[in-house]
Amino acid sequence: MKRQTILLFTSALLIVGVLASNFTIGNAAYTTISNATFDAKVNEGNFNKMMDVLTHKRCVNCHPSDNIPKQGEDSHPHYFGMARGEDNHGYKATSCNTCHQSENNNYSGVPGAPEWSLAPASMMWEGLTRIEIAQSMMDPERNGARTPDETMHHLTEHELVLWAWEPGLNAEGVPREKPPVPKDEYIKAVKQWFADGAIIPESK
Ligand code: HEC
Ligand code: HEC
Repeated sequence: MKRQTILLFTSALLIVGVLASNFTIGNAAYTTISNATFDAKVNEGNFNKMMDVLTHKRCVNCHPSDNIPKQGEDSHPHYFGMARGEDNHGYKATSCNTCHQSENNNYSGVPGAPEWSLAPASMMWEGLTRIEIAQSMMDPERNGARTPDETMHHLTEHELVLWAWEPGLNAEGVPREKPPVPKDEYIKAVKQWFADGAIIPESK
């Protein structure tokens, strides 16, 4: 009888112990922030500036949720039946780089930047919320196995990303719309958001 009570008591202690350690593991992400002056409002401001850009057509047209790149301010399906193909560069006869060069062609209206191709299917952002895009972008299983630091560099330095602020003229000779946040302000917000621990604000 007595032995059973002791057994019960120790297993109860064990359970409490396991619960307690899980609790600290769950909170660990929040205690690793080195910046002691972390401010949730500032974080949300940086996050929103970054996402104002990521949800813009200049990015989403190339990060579609189907296999078809989109064009223009109304994100219509790419003309000439363009589709992903085997390696995101289109099909052999109609490879993206047959038309898209390493810079914009403002005579023909074909936009261009180095490595022009469709974002891989795992990086589909079209139709996702800001929070879902951020989760996808930070998930190594979907983001091309990038570390947070590599993602930060991609966001602030990659030519396909920076093209959005020099998008050239469309086929009608009309300048393409730029993302709503100036480039320098966006880069600053992205760097600060990563430096503060890349915390995705709670969904409301
Ligand atoms: C011409 C098409 C194109 C445009 C325009 C484009 N991307 Fe991408 N993006 C890609 C491709 C292709 C990759 C995959 C590159 C790789 O993995 O090496 C990619 C990958 C990424 C990644 C890394 C993967 C991830 O999920 O974290 C980020 C971040 C990203 N793009 C952000 C942007 C942002 C921000 C813009 C707009 C300012 C943008 N892209 C515009 C084609 C594009
Ligand atoms: C036959 C030529 C041709 C091929 C091949 C081609 N494109 Fe395009 N693409 C164009 C032209 C022309 C435009 C500009 C249309 C406009 O703005 O009026 C364009 C625009 C785009 C845009 C729109 C940019 C924006 O934000 O408005 C994206 C994205 C794009 N192409 C991706 C691709 C991808 C990815 C491939 C390969 C799978 C590809 N294209 C293959 C001719 C081509």
